[in-house]
Amino acid sequence: MARYSHIVGWGMYVPEKVLTNDDLANIVDTSDEWIRTRTGIRERRIVTDPSESTSTLATRAARAALEKAGLSPTALDMIIVATSSPDHLFPATACLVQDALGAVNAGAFDLSAACSGFVYGMAMAHGLIVSGQADTVMVIGAEVLSRLTDWSDRNTCVLFGDGAGAVIMQVSEQPGGFIASDLGADGSGASLLSLPAGGTRLPASEETVRNGMHYIKMDGRAVFRFATRVMAEATRRVVDKAGLTLDDVALIIPHQANSRIIESSVIKQLKYPKERVFMNLDRYGNTSTASIPIALVEAVEQGRVRPGDYVVLVGFGGGLTWAAALIQWGAPKVSEVSRWQRWFWAAWYRVYRTRSAYRRLLRRLFALWFGTRERSEEELERLRRLRKE
Ligand code: UT7
Repeated sequence: MARYSHIVGWGMYVPEKVLTNDDLANIVDTSDEWIRTRTGIRERRIVTDPSESTSTLATRAARAALEKAGLSPTALDMIIVATSSPDHLFPATACLVQDALGAVNAGAFDLSAACSGFVYGMAMAHGLIVSGQADTVMVIGAEVLSRLTDWSDRNTCVLFGDGAGAVIMQVSEQPGGFIASDLGADGSGASLLSLPAGGTRLPASEETVRNGMHYIKMDGRAVFRFATRVMAEATRRVVDKAGLTLDDVALIIPHQANSRIIESSVIKQLKYPKERVFMNLDRYGNTSTASIPIALVEAVEQGRVRPGDYVVLVGFGGGLTWAAALIQWGAPKVSEVSRWQRWFWAAWYRVYRTRSAYRRLLRRLFALWFGTRERSEEELERLRRLRKE
């Protein structure tokens, strides 16, 4: 049987708190007019609850995607979380999501390719599915960039937002689905967009914190030039690889970084009609890895993507990286979720939370028991030595 990979579920989550351009003008020397005309952004969402993090946003988007697909978390073979703001350097945020979902049959790993990460993740999921290593893969793009943003740096703090988007890709005999990709990197531009401290190159210290090196740093103009070039080139290449022309493409969903980048790359250079380019950055800002899946979810929900449509997803980001994917939208069966099913899934997640807490408790008890035994052996050794003396 020929194996194809199709999107069968999708979901998104953004925090409730809206931060407008006027709110930002109260924090830094900027204005609604500057932000709107230079970026297209009007507002963004940010987390306010300290218990929220990238994994909790990712989990909410993942649950919505499972609900849409009518799938149990146990059906997942792999969970890929693309993020630039993981909960920790390690363990992977994907493992925390796996635990929160009770996806007991899934492997889990994080993918770091900055804003291109979600499309990289889809390409990895496609590879796992067509090679027969997995049947059902969850790909999530999730960020809490507000915690890595220097709120006194007007060059960056006006751009970013928090959110998460997820898709479930599943094996199918039906041709279509994920058709082609174009992934690339140019590490010579690594310093143009980075979070300098906290890794092994520049471990966190009093000095790094004092100098704000644990915040996002960016050369905006250089990234802008890179983005306008690669977005157009990658789109052209992925369409070529699929043996199609731009006229065949019903919708382009670009990374939602800046409306001027989208206009000068996709619309001007490719001469692609603006009405077939999806944009929602005015409401969410740049949510990095989450921007493309959130835009895809909204495009589908708004009926902008119909069965059989060819859609290009294209992004760029720190690294520097770029990624484009061409998909043919299938006819996913959207499941209607009853109140009873909703109750069942809420109970499922509670049970798995309890199971997880129980396993942690067991580990602690074992550690305590073995720790005590080790201490008593040491004690015995000391006693033996004392006796000899
Ligand atoms: O996911 C990838 C993430 N990164 C990106 O996508 C960033 C790509 N770059 C951009 O989107 C744009 O370069 C920015 C939006 C970051 C900046 O827009 P720009 O048109 O390239 O502005 P600029 O950096 O050339 O700055 C123009 C002026 C400067 O003042 P002077 O030197 O001309 O006096 C800046 O200091 O605008 C000033 N400026 C601001 N003014 C008000 C920079 N940021 C702000 C601000 N409010 N927030």
